[in-house]
Amino acid sequence: GEAEAANVDKLRFKPIQPSNADEILIPQGYTHDVLISWGDPLFPDAPKLNVAKQTAAAQERQFGYNNDFVGFFELGDDRALLVVNHEYSTGADMFPEYNPGVDKSQADVEMAAHGGSVVELKKNGGRWKVVKSKTYNRRITATTEMEITGPAARHPLMKTKENPAGARVHGMLNNCSGGKTPWGTWLTCEENFNQYFANNGLLPDGPIKAAHARYGVTAGATGRKWEAFYDRFDVTKEPNEPFRFGWVVEIDPYDPTFMPRKRTALGRCKHEAATTALTKDGRVAVYMGDDQQFDYVYKFVSKGKVKKKRENNFDLLDEGVLYVARMSDDNTGEWIELSMKNPTLAALFKDDGEILIKTRLAADAVGATAMDRPEDVQPNPVSGKVYLTMTNNSARMTVRPNAGETAANPRVPNFNGHIIELTEDGDDHGAKTFKWEIFLLCGNPTIDLKTEAGDLTPGLASSATFFAGYADASKLGKVASPDNIAFDSRGNLWIATDGQPSSVDLGRPNDAMHVVPTDGPDRGYLRQFLSGPKGCEVCGPEFTPDDKTLFAAIQHPGEDGGFPNTISTWPPDNKPFPRPSVIAVRRKDGGVIGS
Ligand code: FEO
Ligand code: CA
Ligand code: CA
Ligand code: CA
Repeated sequence: GEAEAANVDKLRFKPIQPSNADEILIPQGYTHDVLISWGDPLFPDAPKLNVAKQTAAAQERQFGYNNDFVGFFELGDDRALLVVNHEYSTGADMFPEYNPGVDKSQADVEMAAHGGSVVELKKNGGRWKVVKSKTYNRRITATTEMEITGPAARHPLMKTKENPAGARVHGMLNNCSGGKTPWGTWLTCEENFNQYFANNGLLPDGPIKAAHARYGVTAGATGRKWEAFYDRFDVTKEPNEPFRFGWVVEIDPYDPTFMPRKRTALGRCKHEAATTALTKDGRVAVYMGDDQQFDYVYKFVSKGKVKKKRENNFDLLDEGVLYVARMSDDNTGEWIELSMKNPTLAALFKDDGEILIKTRLAADAVGATAMDRPEDVQPNPVSGKVYLTMTNNSARMTVRPNAGETAANPRVPNFNGHIIELTEDGDDHGAKTFKWEIFLLCGNPTIDLKTEAGDLTPGLASSATFFAGYADASKLGKVASPDNIAFDSRGNLWIATDGQPSSVDLGRPNDAMHVVPTDGPDRGYLRQFLSGPKGCEVCGPEFTPDDKTLFAAIQHPGEDGGFPNTISTWPPDNKPFPRPSVIAVRRKDGGVIGS
């Protein structure tokens, strides 16, 4: 069949080598454009970036900071919308003199630099360019009004002085990766929201403090010190405000007036991504990772089926079942329901709303498998198998009880990360049981383990690698800390990394993008496709449906390099600060990327 033919379509590009250069490196025959950068005007009347005189009003009309998730939505011939998350700010890399807690205008700029952007694109001669569009372009920030929907909306724990109804909230925070729904909306995921809320250590002991502590809400002052200017970031003044963050937010990119909706039915955690697939009977499944050492993998399955008319799906994510994964050592697994229907949880929680608000505590109680920092989760469009990236876990077997190796997290410690391949039983995304196997144990495949210090039993040596059984280690690339992943339409897995500079086994190269076939004779044959500039992590990635353009978000180039930045000047010659930017990679001959 067609899928089979697609799988034997080999990757033919000449792989690049790991690098520490302050530039984008891609294979021969490829080129890239810097599509859009932090501070670029999104509207005809928006000002250009002026770091010495930046204002919140300007930043709200410009592309935000630290681009992460990238989603491509078609808009007819040669036109498209690109949605981009702006995860977080680092003030010392944005202002010549950063004064957190002292200069309110800087806090306001930072809040305006968070959130997301919708950007119209137009293609000319095979090349995508940004349109300063009044029709579609949009900024979403840490102050944009949003609706809270689903079972936890209006829950007592969601009520604050600013919003006594518990049904509205201002802003989204730390939106890392995300996903797209079958009906063409954007799912954007709040990750490390805990770092914005101060003074949990000052709350009286009790269930609210305990819940915040499980999510890592800051005990004292936060780094950005927004709490100095806004009470809602101080839990001694607004104890419930953190409960209103840590959600998956759904946004219609085609409607700039659409009020973003926090979908509480999908649970609350440090959401990395939320990717969708259809069940056999036409409902939607959403796969999600909670990016923390020893946290969990989740799946939501809607009650209703996906309908033809897109607007009829806008409430679909408000009703359904949330599950957490248990991955048994015999390579089977179970999706455990997190609701009052589960007797263990009915004994511990008052209602489904509380279970969703305290998702992590509910998952702790039902025997979910503690994973090595679950980052992106992505269903393969060709095979239907689901890939789960475990970015790394240096603490495995050192901190908590029950934190030793499991078959699904076999390395102790796990410095280089791994990728799990999950096959739902009956090949149905609505299944309650699955099989799993290790697809990659990342690292340097040519390291001689006999020279490694110490045998870290029980469990595999931390440097042991596995590339889906691919036999010729001399041909393989080196990869560590897999984070965001994407599939091209032929089922090749593209892996963006966050943490390769920490990998001693790799020789500390810059973060990068790699590609690995998941099927056929080259299954496991991983090769490096891109190297990022200094100090960055590589995010996105996202393909156009024709696989001829590959978008990547270059996040935090030169992070912590100060003023003027001493680490990076990327994109070329940007001073005094490098600028997080989205790039578009294409083949010079206009062909399909990779093939
Ligand atoms: Fe923001 Fe889990 O990376
Ligand atoms: Ca990430
Ligand atoms: Ca992804
Ligand atoms: Ca990461």
